[in-house]
Amino acid sequence: MKKNRFKFCFDLTIAITFILLFAPGVTSIAFHEIASIFLGAALIIHLVLNKEWIIGMSKKMFSRRIKGKSLLSYVLNFTLLLVMFIIMVSGLLISEVIFPNFRHFPSINWVALHIVSAVLGLLIVGIHLGLHWNWIKQIGNQQPKLKKLLSFRKPSIKKLSRLILIIGTIFLFVQIFKLTFVSIELFSGPSLGGEEIQGNENHFSVNLVGILPVFAIYSFLLGSIAFYTHLLEKRTINKKRTRTS
Ligand code: HEM
Repeated sequence: MKKNRFKFCFDLTIAITFILLFAPGVTSIAFHEIASIFLGAALIIHLVLNKEWIIGMSKKMFSRRIKGKSLLSYVLNFTLLLVMFIIMVSGLLISEVIFPNFRHFPSINWVALHIVSAVLGLLIVGIHLGLHWNWIKQIGNQQPKLKKLLSFRKPSIKKLSRLILIIGTIFLFVQIFKLTFVSIELFSGPSLGGEEIQGNENHFSVNLVGILPVFAIYSFLLGSIAFYTHLLEKRTINKKRTRTS
C-alpha cells in the first residue's frame, strides 16, 4: 500500500517534469536541460521500482508465453526506453547550457531527431498511461489529499472531460503535423542546433505566464491519448466477451 502510494507520487512527478520539457522556450533552456537530466535518473529509479514486472515479463517473453495486452505493454515499454535513450543522447549533443562543447557528428540533424523522438515519446507515454488507466484510477482514488483537491464544485464532470478531450485531440493533430514536418527536415540536411529556438537568447529566462497554458495543453494531450487507448482496450475486451458468450 505504502509502496504503491510512493510509486504513484513518484510517477506523477515524472509525468509533470516530462510535460514541462516540451516548452524549453517557456521554461528556459537551463531548466530544460537540468530537469531532463533529473528525469533520466528518475526513469532509472522507475525501472528499479518495477523490476519484478520487467523480469517476470522478460522471462515469459523468452519462453513465448506472453500475448495480448501483456505483449503490447512489453513491446511498447521497450520502445519507450529506446526512444527516451535517443531523446537524451540527441539532447546532450545539442546542449547549450550543461555541455555546450559536447557537439559531435555534425552530419546528423540532431535538433530534428531530438524533436521527432520527443513527440514520439509523448505519444507512447500517452498510450502507456492508457494501458495503466485502471491502476492509476485505483491508486488515485486511495489518495485522500488528491480526492479533496478534486472535490471542488465542478461545472459538470462530463462536460469538463469532453472539453479536455476536444482540446487534447486538436493538439494531438498539431503534434502529428509537427512530427511530419520535422521528420522531413530530419532527412533534408544536417544542423548542429542551438539556433532554432527564437527569442531565447538568454538561456535562463523563464516565461512564468506561459507555463500554465503549456502545462494544460500537454496534460490534455496526454490525457486524450490515454483515454483513447483505454477506450480501445475496453472495446476489445467487450468484443472478446460477446464472442465467447
Ligand atoms: C525526456 C527528455 C527530453 C524531452 C522530452 C525533450 C524535449 C524537447 C523538445 C520537444 C524540444 C523542442 C522544443 C520546441 O519545439 O520548441 C527540445 C529542445 C531542446 N532540448 Fe530537449 N528534451 C529532452 C532532453 C534534453 C536533454 C537531456 C538536453 C540536453 C542536456 C536537451 C536539450 C535541448 C535543447 C538545447 C533544445 C533546443 C534545440 C533548438 O535549438 O531548437 N533536451 N527538447
